[in-house]
Amino acid sequence: MTFRFGPRPTAGAAIVLALGAALLPGPLPATATGTDRQAADAGRPSAGSAGVGDPLFPKAGNGGYRVGHYDLRLTYAPQRRMLRARATITARTTQALSSFHLDLYGLTVDRVVVAGDPARWERRGQELVVRPARPLAADAAFTIRVRYHGAPRTYIDPDGSLDGWSYTDDGAVVAAEPVGAMTVFPANNHPSDKARFDVAIRVPDNLKAVSNGVLTGRRTSHGWTTWRWHEPDQMATHLMTATIGRFRMLRDRGPGGLPIWSFIDPRTSGARAIAHRIPAVLRRLERWYGDYPFVSSGVIVDRSRLGYALEVQTRPLFDGTPDLSTLVHELAHQWYGNAVSPRTWQHIWLNEGFATYTEWLWAARRHPGAAQSRFDRLYREPAGSSLWSPPPADPGRAANLFGRPVYDRGAMALHALRTQVGLATFLQAGRRWAQVHAGGSARTSQLRTLAERVSGEPLGRLFADWLWRDGRPDGY
Ligand code: ARG
Ligand code: ZN
Repeated sequence: MTFRFGPRPTAGAAIVLALGAALLPGPLPATATGTDRQAADAGRPSAGSAGVGDPLFPKAGNGGYRVGHYDLRLTYAPQRRMLRARATITARTTQALSSFHLDLYGLTVDRVVVAGDPARWERRGQELVVRPARPLAADAAFTIRVRYHGAPRTYIDPDGSLDGWSYTDDGAVVAAEPVGAMTVFPANNHPSDKARFDVAIRVPDNLKAVSNGVLTGRRTSHGWTTWRWHEPDQMATHLMTATIGRFRMLRDRGPGGLPIWSFIDPRTSGARAIAHRIPAVLRRLERWYGDYPFVSSGVIVDRSRLGYALEVQTRPLFDGTPDLSTLVHELAHQWYGNAVSPRTWQHIWLNEGFATYTEWLWAARRHPGAAQSRFDRLYREPAGSSLWSPPPADPGRAANLFGRPVYDRGAMALHALRTQVGLATFLQAGRRWAQVHAGGSARTSQLRTLAERVSGEPLGRLFADWLWRDGRPDGY
């Protein structure tokens, strides 16, 4: 097992390496062992675990610390497909650490500095294992700096879809749900550890670079432009983007003067018209769900091979001009999925059920009864249909994350809830959910508790029937 510094350790670094080796000999265990746990209990430094314990993605996220802020500086040269980057991560330990993990897929690490001192590191598949020169105390703030480079590699999800960095003919799109953020930057890559982000992207000045939040600066020199983006609100790693290409930039204002920046591939048609619908959609969603949770909005429409849209925080990403219903879906995710994220990936129906049900409510504005008729049509699907299994709140395998039960049966579950408690109470619960958990992550059982409190009705049976039990629920 070899830890190493960058390619050419300096004399000073070599001394630290020797000291580190003397103080902390031996390889690191892949995950926290019994001895590590005993050490952690006793407050002695031990290895942080390789995952946060997500049953569907055992290696996603890491144990022993939580991230407060990611500061990413990316330079991308599209001709050479070369990304050069620096990540500065501000974090806080949750235990005394002799070593810890980050998630990073592909790319070459050049240097890791922890708390100001060069650290040793090792790559183990998608795990970047870091051993600081000195152990980190429990409950202490620290910074991690990682310098890295390379041609990013797209991650292929268990369901076969493209995740993370994907090349386009004029740059790249980053759509990182569920685990693709690690193709772009070293991360505690799990929605249970949200953080604030600053992202600066330097690209040749014929291109534009888009990320989350507000555009705080754009500076050009020597043929390169740096785009600085600031996202002051908590964000899950999978909602980050660094999308690069030829775009038209559209500026607009939403409710309360909300700044809207959209980036439209000039080869698409109709995308401008769709972008102009954002203010009206947000106004309606605010009436249903409460104040828009973020500091800016917009869309990114970029031709790519993605095959799906993503609710990128503040600025949803589409692989072509979306229809209005899809725009509504991705904007609804800003409340459900982004402001409130799933505690583990098992609870993804909380994102997709709400976003899909919002499409139903949107349709019902024009056609009263649309939500009910969508429910009825789905309810008639035969018992053997893929709609009924696995249950939305227990998808079982990572490959089932974006299946019909999560989207359609998830929306049916919310419709059943709305039918039982009434629309006004349903929306009141939805508003409270988005408010109480904003900036954090939550699980299905918490929605039940909250909906019971708001409605004053027991909902155990309804939640069990629609979310937890396999097969078509009887009697609805
Ligand atoms: N959350 C996205 C949406 O519903 C879908 C993401 C699909 N991702 C994937 N890796 N297949 O709008
Ligand atoms: Zn969705």
